Amino acid sequence: MRQRYFSGIQPTGELHIGNYLGAIKSWIELQDSFEGIFGIVDYHAITEPYKPEDMPKRVFDTALDYLAAGLDPNKSILLIQSFVPEHTEMAWLLSSVTPVSWVERVPTYKEKARQLKTQVNMGLLSYPVLMAADIVLYKSTIVPVGEDQLPHLELTREIVRSFNSKYRSKYGYKYGSKSGDIFPEPQAYLAGGSRIMSLTEPMKKMSKSLGAHNYIALADPPDVIRKKLAKAVTDIGPGGGEMSPGTKNLFQLMSLFSSKETCDHFKQLYDEGNIRYSDMKQKLADDIISDLGPIRDRRLALSLRPEYIRKVLIEGSNRAREIARQTLHEAKERMGLTYF
Ligand code: TYM
Repeated sequence: MRQRYFSGIQPTGELHIGNYLGAIKSWIELQDSFEGIFGIVDYHAITEPYKPEDMPKRVFDTALDYLAAGLDPNKSILLIQSFVPEHTEMAWLLSSVTPVSWVERVPTYKEKARQLKTQVNMGLLSYPVLMAADIVLYKSTIVPVGEDQLPHLELTREIVRSFNSKYRSKYGYKYGSKSGDIFPEPQAYLAGGSRIMSLTEPMKKMSKSLGAHNYIALADPPDVIRKKLAKAVTDIGPGGGEMSPGTKNLFQLMSLFSSKETCDHFKQLYDEGNIRYSDMKQKLADDIISDLGPIRDRRLALSLRPEYIRKVLIEGSNRAREIARQTLHEAKERMGLTYF
């Protein structure tokens, strides 16, 4: 039996190559060796201001990107988080073993709290507890994510330890775990592209919140990819010292999208001080366009089949519910919450 794991993405509408290289690519590579359960985590997305009328399209577009990138519903489960209410129920159980001080020290929470001040809601504070629930419901042993999610993963591991030690099974082997622990401690699985930086502000990670010029979307047409890369920050030219963050980012992208020969060629030009960034960007654009081309074509074809997308999501969510319901029952049993 393939081991299971959950990973997910917030439905922001347009997935970018950071999401692709940091998460989705690993999901696809692992599809045959693990049973992946991939969530469109809409309950996470509502913790920040959003327009309700936009949410259905955001969810639909995320599903399109998942399938177009290569997730196969015959091998993996695709779900909408709010269709599987066991996620929020499990989050409540986990919140009872999570000290508030643990969630208050999560870097993304601290940053959001600084930005939003009095508008910080309970959802933002308990965000990582819901994420832990997503992960433990499927007894995930690994979680492929980008580097920015590591603090959340570490917290999940702490929550797992807390739950396991508080509610260790008296029966030991009953759930297939020697120690009587109900949940495995999940390990982060980092891909080669686990931290892709913004094209325009390369000290920050590529993110939708920095605006369309800082990222390349999976659905961007070739001319848009060329334009965005042409504007990517590099440095003013060869000079001694350390490689600038923008240039480093371009070389990283090149290592992920281009051949070794291409990378070596431009690295040599860089080392000799003869690099022309416009040439490098053009070649990188060619390689990104040819890599993303099939995804874009599939996306276009799938967008004409909304009924199929709906079916995949509903069937996936139902399948996930069967697994989730069982784990939730085990957790409740440990907690003395099964009465009849
Ligand atoms: P989200 O929606 O911000 O991002 C989805 C995935 O993309 C990765 N990622 C990146 N990787 C490399 N470079 C970047 N610039 C970059 N930007 C984003 C993220 O690390 C992530 O893997 N809290 C999560 C969603 C979530 C989840 C889960 C993930 C909810 N429950 C359970 C795993 C397991 C989030 O907001 O990801």
